[in-house]
Amino acid sequence: MKIIRAKDYKDMSRKAANIISAQVIMKPNCVLGLATGGTPVGTYQQLIDWYNKGDVDFSEVTTVNLDEYRGLPRENPQSYWSFMHDNFFDHVNIDPARINLPDGTNLDAAAECKRYDEVIHNVGGIDLQLLGIGHDGHIGFNEPGAAFELGTHCVDLTQETIEANKRFFDGNVDLVPKQAYTMGIKTIMQARKVLLVANGAGKAEIIKKAFFGPVTPEVPASILQMHPDFTLVGDAEALSLI
Ligand code: F6R
Repeated sequence: MKIIRAKDYKDMSRKAANIISAQVIMKPNCVLGLATGGTPVGTYQQLIDWYNKGDVDFSEVTTVNLDEYRGLPRENPQSYWSFMHDNFFDHVNIDPARINLPDGTNLDAAAECKRYDEVIHNVGGIDLQLLGIGHDGHIGFNEPGAAFELGTHCVDLTQETIEANKRFFDGNVDLVPKQAYTMGIKTIMQARKVLLVANGAGKAEIIKKAFFGPVTPEVPASILQMHPDFTLVGDAEALSLI
């Protein structure tokens, strides 16, 4: 496990974007596993900035996103498909045919999860997986108690995650979908590199627990301690307890 200390959110974003752009420069046709949420937005902005300056080229990159709400069509502004297009894909030269997310509109969970695992397999696996971390230690939508050996699966979101995500649904908890398709921990652990970004004092406690506590399904991110190429980039506040 490598820990990179950043001063603040901007610095964290730049350091994470540096690692991602190094990956793309070294392997232009790489597979990037991407995350939504508030934390990586600055990382995407930095990558867009470098793309605009001609420093990084995404034309051969394939992406696989971690998760998607079950039941939300792509066009819904709160879908992760929309989030990724608004915050990243629409601003760089990524080939739309190489963008992959779970399909929230396929309500046949078994079929959709199988399809998505095949997508990841068929693109040759993930070169670099970007992650955020939930206050309860979730990664993707793998909530506490999630089995480490799962591939893509359908989850019932915990109340805490529903609450945390309501800010994206006009603050209305009733509008937040209650299920999601997520890559499993097994899939995440099979990524050749994992990069987790964290910022703010609110993440300090879980960062300490996940990366300096026991490896347990009760703290899903703790499994990353066992990953052979795991990098945590955090700002001073998120890393304040370690
Ligand atoms: C996002 C995802 C989630 C978030 C986590 C942290 O695709 O799967 O696990 O990474 O909830 O979210 P933020 O960054 O908003 O604190």
